[in-house]
Amino acid sequence: MSATSGDLLADRRYAWGAGAFKERDFEGAADLFRQVIEIAPEWAPAHLSLGDSLMGLGDRAGAQIAWGHALRLDASGVLGAALKIAALGAGRAPAAAPREYVRALFDEYAPRFDTHLREKLAYRGPELILAAIERACGLRGREFWFDRALDLGCGTGLMADELWKRVDSMNGCDLSPVMIEGALLSGKYSNLRVADVGDYLVSQGEDSSDLVVAADVFVYIGDLEPLFAQSARVIERGGLFAFSVQRAEGAEWSVGADLRYAHSRAYLGRLASKHGFEVAVLDDASTRKDAGVDVPGLVAVLART
Ligand SMILES: C[S@@+](CC[C@H](N)C(=O)[O-])C[C@H]1O[C@@H](n2cnc3c(N)ncnc32)[C@H](O)[C@@H]1O
Repeated sequence: MSATSGDLLADRRYAWGAGAFKERDFEGAADLFRQVIEIAPEWAPAHLSLGDSLMGLGDRAGAQIAWGHALRLDASGVLGAALKIAALGAGRAPAAAPREYVRALFDEYAPRFDTHLREKLAYRGPELILAAIERACGLRGREFWFDRALDLGCGTGLMADELWKRVDSMNGCDLSPVMIEGALLSGKYSNLRVADVGDYLVSQGEDSSDLVVAADVFVYIGDLEPLFAQSARVIERGGLFAFSVQRAEGAEWSVGADLRYAHSRAYLGRLASKHGFEVAVLDDASTRKDAGVDVPGLVAVLART
């Protein structure tokens, strides 16, 4: 998606609108974004921002229409309009966040990811997952050691910081090349690949791993069924599948106002038994805060039977 509308005046009004939005002057912002749309009607960011402003004014129906235009004009999905519409409870939620959206989000976020996540959001996913893996090993009488671990959506490598003393080799993948650069610098991975987690699992051999982890990654993926099926193929008998999710109540999975996916305990249990996993640990746990409040979540460790 182009960062410019192609018209200087429209770009300037868009910048003013963005400024007004930041100041929470939603009325003024909406007015400016409408002016941009008059000049550059096919430029998706103006529609998206108009929708955001209308949402700020409490006009959900207007926001839905504006985001719908953005969705139609943004073929790559980079702007995340589909997630915004799904969060309204309108329209069918995409099975996963668009790849271009995730890549753009984390390429931009990567340089401040570690400090922002740790200090502002009190992120503790990797520590909670490590503790859950240790407990699952104890419960199953398994050594707390792994020969070949895979880190799905490895980001800058925070999971490896926790796990590296417990694994012989660790490989990882992530959609964001800039996040992967951070993981490379950690020096804790044998192999890293810029790839979608689904594609990455498909490329792995049968029974080729004894641990698959995904820390705070399934918040960008709604339908986990294909990943469970592939993990079951890749993880050898007795191996573990450990991950965190945001907790949904009711629906199997849904998109929240934070544009992240949440999954229900019942859904994870159903997928586990369908794909040959036993639930070793499935605990309520919050991996991060949002506006100072713990986000409800689950930490799971499943054992391949
Ligand atoms: C919140 S970060 C967590 C990173 C790391 N696991 C950690 O605990 O620090 C989520 C990561 O998942 C990656 N991600 C999201 N969806 C993905 C997908 N479909 N395939 C690969 N990576 C994905 C993002 O690029 C991002 O680096």
